[in-house]
This record gives sequence, C-alpha cells and structure tokens, in this order.
Amino acid sequence: MLGLARQIDEAATMIRQRWPSTPKAGLILGTGLGGLAEQIANKTIIPYAEIPHFPTSTSPSHAGQLVCGELCGVPIVAMEGRFHFYEGYSMQQVTFPVRVMKALGANTLVVTNAAGGMNPHFELSDVVVIDDHINLMGDNPLRGINDDQLGPRFPDMCEPYSRELSTIALQAALELGITAHKGIFVAVTGPNLETRAEYRMLRGMGADVVGMSTVPEVIVAVHAGLRVLGFSIVTDVCLPDALEPVDIQKILAVAAKGGEKLSRLIPQVLARMTAR
Ligand code: HPA
Repeated sequence: MLGLARQIDEAATMIRQRWPSTPKAGLILGTGLGGLAEQIANKTIIPYAEIPHFPTSTSPSHAGQLVCGELCGVPIVAMEGRFHFYEGYSMQQVTFPVRVMKALGANTLVVTNAAGGMNPHFELSDVVVIDDHINLMGDNPLRGINDDQLGPRFPDMCEPYSRELSTIALQAALELGITAHKGIFVAVTGPNLETRAEYRMLRGMGADVVGMSTVPEVIVAVHAGLRVLGFSIVTDVCLPDALEPVDIQKILAVAAKGGEKLSRLIPQVLARMTAR
C-alpha cells in the first residue's frame, strides 16, 4: 500500500471503531453553514484532532469535527469545518477527508460553501446548485504520483457534478419554496476578496459564483468515483460597477440565513436520492 492509501485506511479504521455504520454520503459544511449538523440524529462526534492524519482546523467559524449519524434516516458523515488552501494546508491535506469518506463506503459527496455572487440575477442568501466549475487555484490535489488504487491518472471532468442529483436538488428546492439557481463556480485561493477588475474578469470567464474552496474536494471526489452535489450560498454581491466593502461578520450572517435553507433542502435531497 502506498503512503496515502495507508493513511486513509488508518483514519477510516479509527472512525469505524467509533461509528460502525456505512455512510451513504459524505457532507462538507462550508463557512457559516454548519447548522445542518444540529439536525443529524444518533450522532457520534469525532474531533479532527483525534483522527489519524487529519489536519486540524484553524478557522474560527469552523468547528473542526466529524459528525456521523443520520439525516432523514440516511447514514451520513459530515465535516463541520473544512480545510482551506488559504489556511496554508496542502491540496492533499485539504482533500484527505474526501478520501476517508470514500473509504468508509460513501458513494456521494455533498459539498457546500459561502460564495460571492457575480451573476446579477442572484441575491443575498440565494442557493446556487453548482453546475460546473473553473479551477483558478493554481494547484491540483492530484499533482504527483498517481495511486491507481485511488483513481485514474487522468480523471474525466465532463460531468463533475451529477446532473441527476442537481435535478433532484432543484426540484426539491422548488417544492420547499427555496429560490435556487444553477451556476458555474470559480475557485480562487483567497484569502483576500477580489478586486473589481478580478470580479469583472471572473464573470467574463463565465462564472456565476466565486469562492475559496470546494474545487479541490470535488476533483478528488471525481478521482475517487464519488457522485457530487454542490451548493453555494451567495453571501455577498460582487458586481464590479457597484461593489461595496464586505466584512466577514456580514458574510457569516448571510451564510447563516442560507444555511437554514440548506438545512431544509439537503435532508430532502438525501431522502429522495436513496429512494431511487
Ligand atoms: N470571493 C471569494 N470568496 C468568497 C467571496 C468572494 O466574494 N464571498 C464568499 N467567499
């Protein structure tokens, strides 16, 4: 076994000792979007610091624990707090938990984030179902020697986000009365927000929302053969000709509002997904 595969195995073995179920899905709860964790039933909480080879979280708005349990009766593992590239973690560290979710038996990754809205039709706290992405992080978690046991050298990216799951999500949002758009997510490194010239460029490239996460985890999920469903919450409006300063407290407040929507939407999607 190569080094990474052994580390994944050690982390998964430890988690299984505390929580012996097989998750159907892994969830990554983004900045300010941890509220969903409160709805998880029959919880087993494992702080990242106790999981072998897991990095530990530095971000104040991120709890840094794995919450294992059930949502709508569906066994899931949720990351309350993710690792960001801007915090100084390597791409391998950022994406390690996704490998572990796969090793635990999950076949689906649901990923959420707080993002800047560049599409003028999007409003604060709107839900965006990620349709596709652009990687502008200048790095890739798959760089380096490929372990063929974990996935192919050149993973296909023609449909990184499952169309089937996106359709279920959009339908469920409609039925719950939650405004949801489809959109293209562009990932940047951060940690600064973008300049007006940068927002203009990113919008011109075809992106609807911009954030500092998600793409590394999705690349690894696709490499590992997981189906992916991605959600952004629009936490600030990024129209280059009407840009106003944002502060992180404001972003977190809007994220909390959007997080409440995702807390209603995601369990519905999980229930419908497994009903198939
Ligand atoms: N840019 C990048 N990342 C973000 C933004 C933004 O405007 N808002 C929330 N995350």
